[in-house]
Amino acid sequence: MSLHSNQRVASVLDLIGNTPLIRLRSVEAQAGGNVEIWAKCEFENPGGSVKDRAARQMITDALAEGRLGPDKILIDSTSGNTGVAYSMIGASLGIPVHLVMPANVSVARKNITQAYGTKIIFSSEFEGSDGAIRLARDIVAKDPDRYFFPNQYANPSNPGAHYLGTGVEIAEALGKRITHFATGIGTTGTIMGTGRRLKEFKPDIEVIGIEPDDSFHGLEGLKHLASSIVPDIWKPEGIVDRMMPMATDEAWDASEALCKAEGIFIGHSAGANVAGALRVAREAGPGAVVVTILPDRGDRYFQPMKWEKHYLW
Ligand SMILES: Cc1ncc(COP(=O)(O)O)c(C=O)c1O
Repeated sequence: MSLHSNQRVASVLDLIGNTPLIRLRSVEAQAGGNVEIWAKCEFENPGGSVKDRAARQMITDALAEGRLGPDKILIDSTSGNTGVAYSMIGASLGIPVHLVMPANVSVARKNITQAYGTKIIFSSEFEGSDGAIRLARDIVAKDPDRYFFPNQYANPSNPGAHYLGTGVEIAEALGKRITHFATGIGTTGTIMGTGRRLKEFKPDIEVIGIEPDDSFHGLEGLKHLASSIVPDIWKPEGIVDRMMPMATDEAWDASEALCKAEGIFIGHSAGANVAGALRVAREAGPGAVVVTILPDRGDRYFQPMKWEKHYLW
């Protein structure tokens, strides 16, 4: 969302990107001071998450190249935020959206996507996001002409959104003082695109990938690579300098602490990123300028009342 209140936009698509960077003073203090920790407020996107960027890029590139047209249904597997983004953009552009998601994703995610008119197809809750990917592939394989399958795990437009947007915005906002970029990996689009752009901008920026420390974890949106289908877009050579394992508890504690200390109510992958940025700043010491991402807001993880017209009175 733009910080300029005098802007006019043509549609909700124009509200995506150009998010502000916020300085995390309470986290800097824990790192011993004399460091800067900046976080990109991706929860400011109109669909509520960083995934608006990837979804917009995948859809607009496909429209421009004729892979998506008026007769096609957009289908994909998603752990949630990408589904919200597809649903929002699909509604705005008149594109029908079908989403495959594990039956146990949060009630909020199901309700939000359905509110935009999206159809949900449930995959096994025991097979996680990999099961959703497999089911989406099966559905498309049976009737390939009916669907546009963006496949965010293999689509270059996903990191492309961050190469063209997130990375440029960070470089322009902070310049060559940046020393580190640390962020969590899900599809890996954010780190691949932003990391590539920042490395081109200043090759000695260290890029750190944060991943759950175990296959069973509570960090929605993030992937434990060793136990997952490795995304095709994950090509870390020359982009990602090292990986950092993150415990669910440490990430959740960082989310809660940031909310109480600074009034920034973030989700758990954002907590992982803040905890990771703190570790990086502590290790690097005075002079470090660390950038991270706040992918979404904490209220997305509440169990809300169902948003529907069926009142009881
Ligand atoms: C809440 C949240 N955090 C982090 C990520 C990871 O971002 P990326 O898929 O670009 O690696 C996602 C992606 O789905 C997400 O939904």
